[in-house]
Amino acid sequence: MSHGQDALSGQNEFIFPAVKPLYDKPLVLTEGQGVRVRDIDGREYLDLFAGILTTSVGHCNPKVIARMGEQLGRLGHTSTLYVTKPQVEAARQLASIAPGELSQTFFTNSGTEAIESAIQMAFVHTGRSEVICLRQSYHGRSFMTSNLTGVGSWRPLATSFPGIKHVQTPYPYRCPYKQPCDDSCVEKFTRDIEDVILTTTNGKPAAFIAESVMGVGGYIVPPKGYFERAAEIIRSYGGLFISDEVQSGFGRSGDHWFGIEHSGVEPDIMVMAKGIANGAPVGAMITRPEIAESWKAKTISTFGGNPISMAAASATLEVMIEENVPQRAAERGGQLLEGLQKFQDQFDWIGDVRGRGLMLGLELVENKEEKIPFPARAKALLESCKEEGLLVGIGGMNGHVIRLGPSLLITASEIEEGLERFGRACHKLENR
Ligand SMILES: Cc1ncc(COP(=O)(O)O)c(C=O)c1O
Repeated sequence: MSHGQDALSGQNEFIFPAVKPLYDKPLVLTEGQGVRVRDIDGREYLDLFAGILTTSVGHCNPKVIARMGEQLGRLGHTSTLYVTKPQVEAARQLASIAPGELSQTFFTNSGTEAIESAIQMAFVHTGRSEVICLRQSYHGRSFMTSNLTGVGSWRPLATSFPGIKHVQTPYPYRCPYKQPCDDSCVEKFTRDIEDVILTTTNGKPAAFIAESVMGVGGYIVPPKGYFERAAEIIRSYGGLFISDEVQSGFGRSGDHWFGIEHSGVEPDIMVMAKGIANGAPVGAMITRPEIAESWKAKTISTFGGNPISMAAASATLEVMIEENVPQRAAERGGQLLEGLQKFQDQFDWIGDVRGRGLMLGLELVENKEEKIPFPARAKALLESCKEEGLLVGIGGMNGHVIRLGPSLLITASEIEEGLERFGRACHKLENR
């Protein structure tokens, strides 16, 4: 049995079966460097998905590795019972790039935990217990966060967590009000927030939570003005605005550090994870001091704020600042978008190309007129990209959106190479 087969049969025997790797024959990855990874048989791939937008400054970034190694040799664990410089330093760096007065951070081990903490924070601060969220959103895998999530296939239980209300997705490509959708649809999309508050809550919601660019939903960018109006509505009912920046944070959306900054809205609470520490397990919730101080109960995290993870976060943030990743994401994202739009012109089954910065999606449809989702084509394209040595992701309600989100340090020639491979993968499907 080859090493690859051995790993795959071990996966089937010992790993929880609901954890489904991508591809008909799952990839067994063993090495990574920058934007390239290698499988167990030595085949190299250009990685345009970065472990779900997480290796933000490239696989095995030397500065991040060095800082983690140094910290591991000095002090590997303390718990939050003790003060450590790496945790304070990472929090200070976050405060320096976070919008407005967001300055106090609680570190967790994942995005899920950070979202849980943010919702709890909003409940504690407002003394309320109802939350408004979006359909087609993804917020995590725990009991509460899978209930916040608005994609049925990621919700394992019929039992509902109380107090969670879903409102209409501001989804321009499938806008029911006007085609093409424009800013005039904002009032209609946001009216649903107010309707849901008035009809299905006691009129006192604790918060509205949304991803500034919807990730798992298929890189949906709400129309201009949506967040301003949504924040105005939730605040007029005394609730907080929570921005989920787990995918869209840290320059990913281009030009700004956080996706929500493309609007004029300053969130009350912001949640981060994924790209924050280049793959080390770190999540974070940041808020203003007057909100943070209303949490009076004791709280602790054994691993949250762990010195090795914090060293990774600090080093990653330093690289991001040095390299000005918001600008890089805007430039390289523009280049990638332009290349993908050319494929949209060539193929009737690429209905929409969208996103922000270096988080771009292609919505695949049976044809551009009817816009019927085409998940079989998306699956075939995923496999075809793999044959071309290219890793991409998949998402959308029906699994019909191809998602791209490479390292923020990707170069212009690597983007060119990615587009060439992607083009060959598309043409292969036409010829099949
Ligand atoms: C927007 C968003 N929020 C929260 C999460 C949950 O993060 P984690 O998988 O680290 O628990 C994810 C994960 O994909 C996400 O995309």
